[in-house]
Amino acid sequence: MKLLLLSAALFASTATVFAAPAKLDIDLAHPGHAIPPGFYGLMTEEINYSYDGGLFAELIRNRTFQDPAAGATSRDPRPPVGVVPPHWSVVGAARAATNRTDPVNAALPVNLRLTLTGGIGGVANNGYWGIPVRPATKYTATFYARGVDGFAGPVTAALVLDDGAKVIGQAETEPISGAWKKYSVTFNTAADAPTTAAARFVLSANGTGGVDFSFVSLFPPTYGGVPNGLRPDIMKLLAAMHPKFIRLPGGNYAEGSRFADRFAWKTMIGPADERPGHMGCWSYRSSDGFGLPEYLLWCKQLGAEPVLAVFAGYVLNGDYAHPGSPEMALYTQEALDEIEYVMGPADSEWGKRRADDGFPEPFPLHYVEIGNEDFFDRSGSYEGRFAEMTKAIRAKYPQLKIIATTPVKDTKPDLVDDHIYATASTMQREFTRYDVGSGHPEGRKADGVKVFMGEWATQGGSPTPNLNSALADAVFAMGLERNSDDVLMECYAPLFANVNLENKERGDPRGWQWPTNLIGYDALHAFGSPSYHVLAMFGANRGDKVLPVNFDVPTVTPPIDPHPHGRFGVGMYGTRNEYTDIVVTGPDGKKLSSANLAAEAGRWTFTHGKWSIENGVLRPPEGAQQSWALAGEPTWANYTVTLRARKVAGGEGFILLWNSADGDNYRWWNLGGWGNTVSRCEVSENGGREPYGPSVPFTVETGRWYDLKLVVDGHTARGYVDGKLVMEATDTQRQPTPAAFASASYVDATGEVIVKVVNTAATPLEAAIHLAGAAQVGAGQAIVLAGDPIATNSVAQPDKVAPREEPLANAAPSFTRTFAPYSVTLLRFPAKR
Ligand code: AHR
Repeated sequence: MKLLLLSAALFASTATVFAAPAKLDIDLAHPGHAIPPGFYGLMTEEINYSYDGGLFAELIRNRTFQDPAAGATSRDPRPPVGVVPPHWSVVGAARAATNRTDPVNAALPVNLRLTLTGGIGGVANNGYWGIPVRPATKYTATFYARGVDGFAGPVTAALVLDDGAKVIGQAETEPISGAWKKYSVTFNTAADAPTTAAARFVLSANGTGGVDFSFVSLFPPTYGGVPNGLRPDIMKLLAAMHPKFIRLPGGNYAEGSRFADRFAWKTMIGPADERPGHMGCWSYRSSDGFGLPEYLLWCKQLGAEPVLAVFAGYVLNGDYAHPGSPEMALYTQEALDEIEYVMGPADSEWGKRRADDGFPEPFPLHYVEIGNEDFFDRSGSYEGRFAEMTKAIRAKYPQLKIIATTPVKDTKPDLVDDHIYATASTMQREFTRYDVGSGHPEGRKADGVKVFMGEWATQGGSPTPNLNSALADAVFAMGLERNSDDVLMECYAPLFANVNLENKERGDPRGWQWPTNLIGYDALHAFGSPSYHVLAMFGANRGDKVLPVNFDVPTVTPPIDPHPHGRFGVGMYGTRNEYTDIVVTGPDGKKLSSANLAAEAGRWTFTHGKWSIENGVLRPPEGAQQSWALAGEPTWANYTVTLRARKVAGGEGFILLWNSADGDNYRWWNLGGWGNTVSRCEVSENGGREPYGPSVPFTVETGRWYDLKLVVDGHTARGYVDGKLVMEATDTQRQPTPAAFASASYVDATGEVIVKVVNTAATPLEAAIHLAGAAQVGAGQAIVLAGDPIATNSVAQPDKVAPREEPLANAAPSFTRTFAPYSVTLLRFPAKR
């Protein structure tokens, strides 16, 4: 693409129009390469309560009583006995406690005993941030029960509101026996029942004696009415994206934090009550009710092909299996069996297991990915692990394409998986990442290996992206599609986020762990972010061939504040720190704070949990993974901060923030960042963080007090440790980028042109569009996503940023169109070549 470089000054954000129309030439006479079927796909893992508390429609949280207590750091696979488990409580005349006496089976080692005290008593579950109730809706409750100490009456399953004062729906079992039996009851809510998530599910009984419960499940209607199925509202959003594949399971979840918690798929098939569950790597336990068969159900219901990511012998704590070891042989065999489970005939060993799980027909499978982000494996074992697994897979399934998670030398993969998470300005610049001759270090691979862009997303907006991020996401996706002769597949990540906030009273943590995610939901609602709308627009309007485009468009330089200012702060990242004796001095040498700002509770605000202040020492919230404390005024500029800091525990060092507008927009000095290895500055724009300035080796010692000084001087900051200058960095002018981006494709079957234009500027952009080699150009349709760049969608405002469709009446071999400020526009119209 040729860019006409005009003076950035012409395009200051206050301008109302660009000086001259842009020129967009689209060449229909010389169509380029075919767009492969890998456009567009989905990436998924159990993160942000994606399945439990998300896509998987199960409403009971901790249905096998094995979840660790809130804030528990222990991963003891033997949850305690004699306790009321998390998310359960006692109602009425009763007591409740867990036991391990004669459980139903080895996968369900813990029972919950309800002890009745001569009246109606029960146990209640509060669900995933509530249990959703809707009018005229059928619920199916399933559980194991056995009477103890002489109890032989029925059990009632009910949905209740207002602490049990109002029953919304209920059903009773037959009288239960003293041996384990599985009971299943259904009930309907009334037509005038409220719509609310403030409900609880109660299992109750009347009398004396007790009842042991195991595996308690409650399902509302599911997508397609499939038992143990998926949430209809989320599935509808996904169906509108027309995904061609699902990378499953992608991400860290495929690896697990340690070997005991890896993605052991064989424990995630078969009947749900025979799956033990496991500790996920994103701080919560996975029930594994959503296991391999449910991934396949998901693919089937969306018409998407699985891209199977197999466990490859490396876990997140850095442990790995040695190539050639018995462990590697086991994982390789597991991968072969997993492939057979997915694509083997129904009379093969593992194909039969799939058929038993409800899928007699083999699934189409063309791609297998070996591991996830193995560039983190500093041991260098991936070469050997990849070679071993690839050899075995290719020997049995020569037709499969093998994806490596990082470049390898000895065994040539078919594709390599690239990942990028970055700010909007970086993602816009990455439009040309894979262009021929771009010179980008991560661009086209020298050995010709094709690319799977398996995780990417603009970081900005949380828990879901804002429009500014969506514009950059559109630009990046267009760049991938233009280069889809090299980038054969792509999928945004993460896909889902449960957007519930932390609720200490209920024992609920915040629902999401990753800052920026495509689709948000709570118990009752699901919504697409602006980036979701971009990808749904693109997925629903796929071209068959890329059309060459020449866009003469001005460049703009995102403005940098000439008078940088903002609040000061301290932070923690996976580390317990103490900060004290904080003094902030203005440019005139006068103190902006008292002798110890850390003693003034009222001056601080916090992200992610409340910091404590005791005896003038500021400490981060217990259990927080990341959190910053901000103090001072937004108007503060050119100040000097002195303080003392000590690391108590954890894997990183200290964080000092300055020029902070809020918890998402700031600069910071990360002293002992990157695993306590370096000192470096980072800038965060709308939650998207990027390093800048020099990177210097630095390790913070645990238990030692450090004297720190930060001098903020305009765009430059200097950092001193014990009187020595350690950091000097200038937050420089942003790099110029085109004000707008364009790409085009052709739909062979219908003879239509699809044009995508993103205007990232604050001003309307008029473009003269010329179609070379086109005849019989007709009226079509435009879809426009536009708005305030910092606007985002939410449960309260799900459609604040939503696409609107309008007729495109003036399409012709040459026509003009004005593209709205901050917009993504998709034009689709007939044209003969
Ligand atoms: O998408 C979130 C995480 O980012 C994935 O789990 C991991 O692969 C990457 O680091």
